[in-house]
Amino acid sequence: MNNFVIAIDGTSSSGKSTIAKAVAEKLNLIHIDSGAMYRAVTLFAIENNIYTKNGLDTILLIDSLKEILIDFRKNADNGINEVYLNNKNVEQEIREEEISKKVSSIAKIYEVRNFLTKIQRSFAIDKSIVMDGRDIGTNVFPNSAIKFYITSSIEIRAKRRFNQLNNKTTLEEVTIDLIERDLIDSTRKDSPLKKAIDAIGIDNSINSKEETINEILEIIAQKLNIS
Ligand code: CDP
Repeated sequence: MNNFVIAIDGTSSSGKSTIAKAVAEKLNLIHIDSGAMYRAVTLFAIENNIYTKNGLDTILLIDSLKEILIDFRKNADNGINEVYLNNKNVEQEIREEEISKKVSSIAKIYEVRNFLTKIQRSFAIDKSIVMDGRDIGTNVFPNSAIKFYITSSIEIRAKRRFNQLNNKTTLEEVTIDLIERDLIDSTRKDSPLKKAIDAIGIDNSINSKEETINEILEIIAQKLNIS
């Protein structure tokens, strides 16, 4: 079979990255978390005083994109394909709340999207991949072999994110942040978050994680004739 892309899009904290990771592991494919790339650009902007408490210097950020190198390297201990920013492993750092709060305002900049979309496409040139994000099925790989759109109720998403953050914030604050991020992501001009017309919708609030992953694996096996 030729190389193919499995696209998994969805709202914040819908569980898409966990699903994508599990699917990639099961099928022995490379997993690319495209959100990690937007987060890495956000970290770069904060570290280089491009995004300060006074706001974001968009022109400077666009001009600095040429200094940004983003790639993924597999961690031999846990099997996770971890993100590197200018050759430094930033997989943990990019999950901080400060990044989560700022990332969507960076992700709506056309030049940033263009820059990252090109890198994302390059990952699939010579291999089959599972990529999760917001615009993978609609924009990055509109011809992907199979597309999923994962949703989950706001209550479940907020609880999931709150538990990941080890009580560093409140459930109410997490809920507000998620709603705000979804709003910015789904209303931006370029490649907004939306379900591709040919994507299979999966509600991840109903079943257990294992059940959802198995459901998705069955659909993939049927559709692509692989297992
Ligand atoms: O926190 P969560 O896992 O839900 O989000 P993420 O996948 O890490 O993505 C962080 C942010 O990056 C999103 O809220 C979007 O603003 C942006 N993003 C995007 O615009 N396009 C993508 N393909 C992936 C992420």
